[in-house]
Amino acid sequence: MLTKTLLPALAALFSLTSAQNYPDQSAPFSLKISDAADASLNNKYLYACHSGAAIEQLCLGDKAEHADAYSTYYHNTSEWSSGTGTLVWNLPYSDGIASSGLTFAYNPASNVVLSYFIPGDSNAVRIGFNEENKLFVPAYIDDVLTPGGEKPFYNWEVCTTQFSGYRYQALAWVTVGTPVTGSWGCVSVNVTKEAI
Ligand SMILES: *[C@@H]1O[C@H](CO)[C@@H](O)[C@H](O)[C@H]1NC(C)=O
Ligand SMILES: *[C@@H]1O[C@H](CO)[C@@H](O)[C@H](O)[C@H]1NC(C)=O
Repeated sequence: MLTKTLLPALAALFSLTSAQNYPDQSAPFSLKISDAADASLNNKYLYACHSGAAIEQLCLGDKAEHADAYSTYYHNTSEWSSGTGTLVWNLPYSDGIASSGLTFAYNPASNVVLSYFIPGDSNAVRIGFNEENKLFVPAYIDDVLTPGGEKPFYNWEVCTTQFSGYRYQALAWVTVGTPVTGSWGCVSVNVTKEAI
C-alpha cells in the first residue's frame, strides 16, 4: 500500500523540517460535541478518520462504535502563546508516531472551511479552549485596532464534507455567516475537551 511507504518518509520529512512553534504538550483528552443545533449530535465524539495519505478529518461517532478511534488529542502551547496553540493528534505508523496539527483548508468559493490533521504544524490553525473547555479559534475582527482586536470565535459546524475523495460527516469551520448552499447538512456545534 502506498501509505505504508509514504508515511515514514513524510514523518521523517516533517520531523526534520519542523521546529515546533508550540512545544509544550498538554495531557491527553478527547473531543465531544455540545450545543448542537440538532440535539441528536450532542455527546457524540470526534475521531480521526482517514482522508488521504497522512491526512485525517475529524469525524462524528459514538464512543461504542469506534472504541479505539476515540482519538486522543493534545493541545500544544508555548510560554508566550497565552494558552493558545495547536490541536494535535498523533498519526500512528509502523514504528512511531507523526505529531499532526489541525489545519484549515480554505475554499475561495465557500465560507465553509474543512479541517484536517497533517504531520507537523507548518500551516496549523491556532486554537484555544475557554473556561468551559470549549474549542475556539482566536482571530482579529478589526484591522484598524492595533493591537488587541483579537477575540475567540466558535464557528464550528458538522457538515457532510467531501475531501480528496472521502465523504464524511466531519468537523468544519464557517468563516462568517451561515454555510453557503452546496455545503450539505451543516449543523452548528461546539467542541468540548474531555479529560481521558
Ligand atoms: C507537540 O509537542 C510535542 C512535545 O514537545 C512535540 O513532540 C510535537 O512535535 C508537537 N507537535 C506539533 C504538531 O507541533
Ligand atoms: C458555542 O459556545 C459559545 C461560547 O460559549 C457560544 O457563544 C455559542 O453560541 C455556542 N455555539 C452554539 C452552536 O451554541
